[in-house]
Amino acid sequence: MGIGLWSLFGQAQAAWDVNMRAGVTDVSRSVFDLHMAIFWICVVIGALVFGVMIYSMIAHRRSKRLHSANFHENTKVEVLWTVIPLLILVGMAVPATRTLIHIYDPTESDVDIQITGYQWKWHYKYLGEDVEFFSNLTTPRDQINNLAPKGEHYLLEVDEPLVIPTGAKVRFLITAADVIHSWWVPELAVKKDAIPGFINESWTRVEEPGIYRGQCTELCGKDHGFMPVVVDVRSPEDYAAWLGEKKAEAAKLAELTSKEWTLDELVARGEKVYQTNCVACHQASGEGMPPTFPALKGSQIVTQDVEAHINIVVNGKPGTSMAAFGKQLSEVDLAAVITYERNAWGNDTGEMVTPKD
Ligand code: CUA
Repeated sequence: MGIGLWSLFGQAQAAWDVNMRAGVTDVSRSVFDLHMAIFWICVVIGALVFGVMIYSMIAHRRSKRLHSANFHENTKVEVLWTVIPLLILVGMAVPATRTLIHIYDPTESDVDIQITGYQWKWHYKYLGEDVEFFSNLTTPRDQINNLAPKGEHYLLEVDEPLVIPTGAKVRFLITAADVIHSWWVPELAVKKDAIPGFINESWTRVEEPGIYRGQCTELCGKDHGFMPVVVDVRSPEDYAAWLGEKKAEAAKLAELTSKEWTLDELVARGEKVYQTNCVACHQASGEGMPPTFPALKGSQIVTQDVEAHINIVVNGKPGTSMAAFGKQLSEVDLAAVITYERNAWGNDTGEMVTPKD
């Protein structure tokens, strides 16, 4: 718990800085003000109640030998202890309702983002923009394992943060693909459960560019503590430039996927993918380094079983050094590398695996 909180805020906090944060949005500030108002009301009530209690214990202690009071109902007192709490509750309900109305602002948004929780990463989809990606943890686990026991701070970084523009109303539509997660960024005062089959809605409007951090906050399995949220808020110009780049990337990928590939082209591309990702263990010759890194040349899976072959490349092989490449390779690169391997060491026909398989 302690480690989780430290890592969340990512920087050294004074040991007594235990209060909630005011955050960086109108909503987060009004949530903070409400929190402080209710806090002080509770402090005053607590001081009064405990004050009277302690006073009574001392003033009426046994050595005083006072006679206990003996009386029946007292209308005045009963009315008072009904009316005063009622006034206090109404006094708290007014600002609480005002804050709730602020949070549930139904007006049109400028940017809509679908957020999906997975075990254990977030997926962001910019609705109407054809831009979507996973946000994967990149902080090495051994670094975390080294620092955490010493109580040192570490940052949970991701490969692709959620990027949003300043000044715009950004709507989040939050759901999950497997189990219940929860998307939480304290500085934005956004915290919503991500539930499979449901869409929860929230929004934010951030004025200052910056990196704002959060974490999954619903226990969701083994790596619950390692699915950080990183929000990168940029000026509208920087955001537009980023979005343009992302769209160009997506368009290029779509073009590659729908293109009619010839066998030679695909094999050539696959060879490059193989050189980058596979050669270190399986060798350029495909002979591997048995027994740790099996030979692909002449292997049953490479020659005959395309499905099993794809499955291993995408998901890796648990208990071995074979990593999952599903997140790193596009559909085209996946088809290319498998076609290359089949062609180099597989059946003589050199059958092609198309990106749409
Ligand atoms: Cu996802 Cu906890």
